[in-house]
Amino acid sequence: MAAPGGAGPSGPPPPVFPPSQSPHLNAQYIENYNFPFCEEVSKYEKLAKIGQGTFGEVFKARDKKNKGKIVALKKVLMDNEKEGFPITALREIKILQLLRNENIVNLIEICRSRATQYNRHKSTFYLVFDFCEHDLAGLLSNYNVKFSLGEIKKVMQQLLNGLYFIHSSKIIHRDMKAANVLITKQGILKLADFGLARAISINKSGQPNRYTNRVVTLWYRPPELLLGERNYGPPVDMWGAGCIMAEMWTRSPIMQGNTEQHQLTLIAQLCGAITPEAWPGVENLELYSKLDIPKKPRRVRERLRPYVKDQYAVDLLDKLLCLNPARRIDANSALDHDFFWTDPMPVSLEKMLSQHTQSMFEFLAPRRLSGTQHRMGGQQGALAGGGGGAASASGAVGQGMMPGGAIGGGPIGAAGPVMGGVAGGGPSSSGVGGVVAAAAAAGGAVGRHGHHHGRGRASHSHSSAGGGGGIVPEGSYMDRVF
Ligand SMILES: Nc1ncnc2c1ncn2[C@@H]1O[C@H](COP(=O)(O)OP(=O)(O)OP(=O)(O)O)[C@@H](O)[C@H]1O
Ligand SMILES: [Mg+2]
Repeated sequence: MAAPGGAGPSGPPPPVFPPSQSPHLNAQYIENYNFPFCEEVSKYEKLAKIGQGTFGEVFKARDKKNKGKIVALKKVLMDNEKEGFPITALREIKILQLLRNENIVNLIEICRSRATQYNRHKSTFYLVFDFCEHDLAGLLSNYNVKFSLGEIKKVMQQLLNGLYFIHSSKIIHRDMKAANVLITKQGILKLADFGLARAISINKSGQPNRYTNRVVTLWYRPPELLLGERNYGPPVDMWGAGCIMAEMWTRSPIMQGNTEQHQLTLIAQLCGAITPEAWPGVENLELYSKLDIPKKPRRVRERLRPYVKDQYAVDLLDKLLCLNPARRIDANSALDHDFFWTDPMPVSLEKMLSQHTQSMFEFLAPRRLSGTQHRMGGQQGALAGGGGGAASASGAVGQGMMPGGAIGGGPIGAAGPVMGGVAGGGPSSSGVGGVVAAAAAAGGAVGRHGHHHGRGRASHSHSSAGGGGGIVPEGSYMDRVF
């Protein structure tokens, strides 16, 4: 017998879907349908909101049956979906399933809310992760959290280990930043947020790849992406690792551009003129001749030294913040660097973190500025202002902000909220197919997720006072976290 609307006896088997004539029966069928491999999110009890991403909220939650089990629930934003489960979330799930490693956030399962008449029979989906107590942006914005040199080494060693693993697995993260680096209370670092990650294409035809270059939050975006390169690779993550490493001492993002042009200006002021001598082939990049980049000497070492006393650390930073992606150090060589193999050796963070009983997340950090506030503020980041002859966009100090600081023992500039999404610089997700299979189980057709990944929300809002030694003194407003 053919199902209503189905094919005749000689046709294909009847669709599994219920009869469509009776809306009431349909509703009941959907409400009672038990999706295999996709449990109800009601098995968890939400405890607190800990993150607000572009694609949805993140909650801390507890397993009702196993009360000791704490998880993070990342909601899949479906609001704009007309065509079913977002392809970007599918891609994130597929990549997370592939990447199992101590330094990568662990995806436990996907859960759904029950479809009822109250949500117009549209389930909400959640990615369920092992809970991590902190993110690095939250930790860095709290001046009571002090990292010793050995602890900074441990953070960077684990971060590079995670990158080594994902790059060996032919994945590029494409959104390295402190808020996407999680740290458990045992001091284990986990790379998170694979919402923009993608597999590296194996290009047999010899044609260059044409990935989108509108990825990576502006402040962590490497020069090749800013210049329009579409055939890029793992070095984009290594640049971000360099920015994060410097932030371990400066405590705020080192280059906080307002626009792509401004970001490149800040990069050139720190890393030197972007020329074919420093970077053979750069002249062929689409935006090389279109953008106005200052011709400055490279000053990475001089400008970092007031913050970073350790010579090996400065040397590694210099190699991570290399303009030419082909010559930028890779994760494997970085792990071999003397920085990790000289005294003080990397040391576990567990003891230091045991002094802090409260979770620290970027989202929960006090005095966060919204993505729209202070947009015009000329913040340039921790290393800004010391380069002399700052770009035109960089002089003014935004209302309500701490003055931007000069490098060399002076105060560090307040971190502004100027994110990638502002001024057209927002990274966006590129569409890639191929991960369709899970979609059916997840409850719908696969739709292209045309959502921009512009991070309009606040970044770190810490207005820090930096000491020459790089460890920030006590007594800031950050005390209010506790
Ligand atoms: N497993 C986890 N444990 C604890 N906190 C987490 C976990 N996963 C995510 N978070 C918190 O939620 C925040 C947002 O998560 P995530 O970066 O994955 O979402 P997102 O929507 O992609 O965010 P964005 O688009 O802003 O980068 C993280 O910065 C972190 O603070
Ligand atoms: Mg994120």
